[in-house]
Amino acid sequence: MQFAKALINWYNTHQRDLPWRHSTQAYEIWLSEIMLQQTQVKQALPYYLKFLKHFPTVHDLAKADEDQVLKLWQGLGYYSRARNLHFTAKDISKNYNGSFPTTYKNLLQLKGVGEYTAAAIASFAFNEPKAVVDGNVYRVLSRVFGIDTPINSTEGIKQFKIKANELLDRKNPATYNQAIMEFGAIQCKPKQPNCLFCPFQNICVAFQQSKIEVLPVKLKK
Ligand code: ADE
Repeated sequence: MQFAKALINWYNTHQRDLPWRHSTQAYEIWLSEIMLQQTQVKQALPYYLKFLKHFPTVHDLAKADEDQVLKLWQGLGYYSRARNLHFTAKDISKNYNGSFPTTYKNLLQLKGVGEYTAAAIASFAFNEPKAVVDGNVYRVLSRVFGIDTPINSTEGIKQFKIKANELLDRKNPATYNQAIMEFGAIQCKPKQPNCLFCPFQNICVAFQQSKIEVLPVKLKK
């Protein structure tokens, strides 16, 4: 079975039920992805629900006082995320008529939205076939395919991006992207991955060659 199919099969029986996965609203997806940068699902979850309750639409967030936004953010850390969030909400409300850009390329223009977040919003909200590449994706691909190029080198960043987009299920980019991140988060974990019950045991280079501990390779800079 191809990689994408097997991954989606795994996802269909193992995924956690997370509120942002029920949404195709760019606003709700954007909010979740900004919160989930540098933050665990468990920690971000109550903040996500609280923000949507206070600010159901991007206009509501745009109209809020910066102080109120920062106050609600308290405890999540990396406060530049909250300031960028508020800035971008005002930008969307004022300059985009309240509608998020609908393509990867245009999403990249927004403050605080980098390649990862643009790919997440483009695929989850608009079904654009763009692969997400985050820490989970680096770990899964480096292990399964035995890629030892450092993930924080120029060459590695390029190589993993190409590989991720080759593997992407172009008919189901949203499900595929959720699936590979979920697989990295709960199955192919950094420490003690669940190799005994893994659908890729028979093809995983890291498992076969006992390289789970050394992949992905990250250069100390
Ligand atoms: N981390 C970043 N994005 C995520 C998502 N959509 N679901 C779960 N964890 C994530």
